[in-house]
Amino acid sequence: MNIMLLGAPGAGKGTQAKYLIENFGIPQISTGDILRAAVKSGTEMGIKAKNYMDKGELVPDDVILGIIKDRLAEDDCKKGFILDGFPRTVAQADSLEVVLKELGKKMDGVIALTVKDEELITRLTGRRVCKDCGSSFHIKFNPPKVENICDYCGGELIIRKDDNIDTVKNRLEVYKKQTEPLIEYYRNKGSFIEINGEQDITAIRKDIVEALKGE
Ligand code: AP5
Ligand code: ZN
Repeated sequence: MNIMLLGAPGAGKGTQAKYLIENFGIPQISTGDILRAAVKSGTEMGIKAKNYMDKGELVPDDVILGIIKDRLAEDDCKKGFILDGFPRTVAQADSLEVVLKELGKKMDGVIALTVKDEELITRLTGRRVCKDCGSSFHIKFNPPKVENICDYCGGELIIRKDDNIDTVKNRLEVYKKQTEPLIEYYRNKGSFIEINGEQDITAIRKDIVEALKGE
């Protein structure tokens, strides 16, 4: 099963991806997580990406496409994958079509999570992420079992550098200009599923799994 999660920053892509990994036994490919790992280890790509990420701007398409092409060709993607945070521009979506064709694959479900801006801001400013495995929590909506400790790996929870209010506002603007057009791009293709992302986390999870069963 090849799944794509589309949605604004804070829509819940990472949160739902964690459950889809369990449900379908397929890996999550988060371009944001891959870039953050590159920043952390100080690679050339990480140094280049950091300036864009800290401002809430998109990293150039050529950098992202290099990452995706290599990752999709890995063995663990043979039984399926979950794209989280990619594609984010029409150019990235067009390139994805070419890469999938080359690999003899297609998308089975393109899931758009819709959430209004006000709610996105509350979610992102209250988010805490694991500094070791990247899992997302929320101080109010999805608190960890033990304060500031990751449920999955025991790592410390921190505030992501781009989750301050000014950067969040810019990320939402960038989303509207550059990424939102992808909703119409995919709506007219097969396997498009729109889900109300304002429900609670469990209800969204159920809706996604149900919708994917029909695909
Ligand atoms: P990326 O890491 O992809 O960030 P993003 O798209 O801004 O998305 P987020 O991770 O912020 O949100 P999410 O939808 O995963 O929400 P989450 O589940 O955590 O990208 C970061 C940067 O990298 C970009 O700005 C860009 O610079 C660069 N980049 C990455 N990919 C790129 C690409 N393809 N091209 C170019 N540049 C790229 O949930 C958010 C919070 O809400 C959490 O606290 C969570 O607990 C809570 N929550 C989740 N669901 C619910 C719910 N239903 N109800 C209540 N709270 C909820
Ligand atoms: Zn963790």
